[in-house]
Amino acid sequence: MTTLISQSAIWKQLQAHQQTLARTRLRELFAQDQHRFEQFSITASGILLDYSKNHLTPQTLTLLLQLAEEVKLKEWIERMFSGEKINHTEQRAVLHIALRNRSNRPFTVDGHEVMPAVNAVLGKMRQFSEAIRNHDWRGYTGKPIDTIVNIGIGGSDLGPRMVARALRAYQSPHLRSYFVSNVDATHLGETLTEVNPETTLFIVASKTFTTQETMLNARSARQWLVQKLGNEEAVAKHFVAVSTAKQLIIEFGINPSQMFEFWDWVGGRYSLWSAIGLSTAITLGMDNFEELLAGAHELDQHFYTAPLAQNLPVLMGLIGVWYTNFFNTTTQMVLPYDFALEHLPSYLQQLVMESLGKRVTREGKLVDYLTCPVIGGAPGNNGQHAFYQLLHQGTQLIPADFIVAIESQYDLPGHQAATLSNALAQSHTLMQGRTAEETKAMLLAELSVSSATSIQQVEALVSHRTFPGNQPSNTLIYQKLTPKILGALLALYEHKVFVQSVCWDINAFDQWGVELGKQVANVLLPALVGENTTQLEAFDASTRGLVEYIKKSV
Ligand code: F6P
Repeated sequence: MTTLISQSAIWKQLQAHQQTLARTRLRELFAQDQHRFEQFSITASGILLDYSKNHLTPQTLTLLLQLAEEVKLKEWIERMFSGEKINHTEQRAVLHIALRNRSNRPFTVDGHEVMPAVNAVLGKMRQFSEAIRNHDWRGYTGKPIDTIVNIGIGGSDLGPRMVARALRAYQSPHLRSYFVSNVDATHLGETLTEVNPETTLFIVASKTFTTQETMLNARSARQWLVQKLGNEEAVAKHFVAVSTAKQLIIEFGINPSQMFEFWDWVGGRYSLWSAIGLSTAITLGMDNFEELLAGAHELDQHFYTAPLAQNLPVLMGLIGVWYTNFFNTTTQMVLPYDFALEHLPSYLQQLVMESLGKRVTREGKLVDYLTCPVIGGAPGNNGQHAFYQLLHQGTQLIPADFIVAIESQYDLPGHQAATLSNALAQSHTLMQGRTAEETKAMLLAELSVSSATSIQQVEALVSHRTFPGNQPSNTLIYQKLTPKILGALLALYEHKVFVQSVCWDINAFDQWGVELGKQVANVLLPALVGENTTQLEAFDASTRGLVEYIKKSV
């Protein structure tokens, strides 16, 4: 059994270094070095990473890079790019990078080149999206398609949903898209009230084509369509499928010619670059979808070739490990000051927490260190009026990523300056804080102009109005959110996750933890709907009591 990384010499050195560094506040690090910004910022693929507002010095980086050496990060990057089956518990390669491989370098899995199939599916996506957009493909009653409903959940929903929203400025004015994921009838029910069966295309997106929520929603949508259009034959013109499971698609009643395949070496949360992105290829146009791929590919090449010390995903990944394991932080905030990225935090929740929410090493040994942070976040200014109080005056160290567009998708006078000033002000004040002395001086100065407050009241208020500061953040800044920038940004986070998984010696690409709940739901279902409650005997009193209460109430 491999020794846990926490037993390594470099880990001990990092622990000692943190003890030392913790005695220096962030504002002091800036006071000591006016060139921190130049020293700790780097640009790749049109994205500037300013990591100067972190608890780090050149010595910190040296040690973190030694940690990367210790875990053989460079070799692991090579192993992923080589198509090795590094998702070892599912015996699968991890090649989402092949989906956006615009330079068409060869990738092989089990000795077979994958690019011919990848390019064939991209060609089929282009052909189909153009047929929809130029009205060659029409519905059962001969009308053009103007609405796309993607039915999927998890990676078959969050990625395309986030991309569609982020790039709405690039969307055809003649097309709109909906994303139905939840099995609560509200989600599909509400959507079906808003769409016209004659002009709607349903995309059933499911890697396995077995996910309960997706298959129930797909069956209900199918029944709705047949009922509205009066003929089973209508399904052929209003349903396509995206999956790896061809036989199950046929059994559902979708013609295999209307299936867009992808492969088991694409993880669900890494699949928006595959045909899972079909809805965005249609609404944005294939050219824009391929620009998204190009941006990701450019970042992939940066990740593969840049020295670790100048490598954006490596730096972000190591800084994340630095906080999780040496400052014992348990939360990471994502704060886009670009409203088009409003769904990015929820997308990253799956990408990060389903990848890194693991407790055993690759060999199955229990870890004795923290792994995955809880991902939180919201569009910046909204967050300021929701949870920034905790960030500014709470009791936890909470690292944050500020994601900032210099230009918005829309130009209204004064709005972008307001957005930018808030972004910079918040990352600054989180770092700088306001000491008790500074606060007292401010309050006393206010006192001189209004005697409503007494000295005693000022004294009583100082601690409530002091800002400890010392909260670290990265700022990722780009000119404007184009498909290419978005692709690079998302690839950056994918590779950051991989870097952290290597540091923690965990498999980022399986998700066994989602199984048990699904299995138990299938056991409870008949007890909830039928008379037979024998299955309940094995359950706890709470579950039994709740089932009985529900059954009495329906
Ligand atoms: O959440 C579990 C999971 O398997 C995710 O990894 C996946 O993205 C989602 O369910 C949907 O799976 P499928 O695409 O197979 O329907």
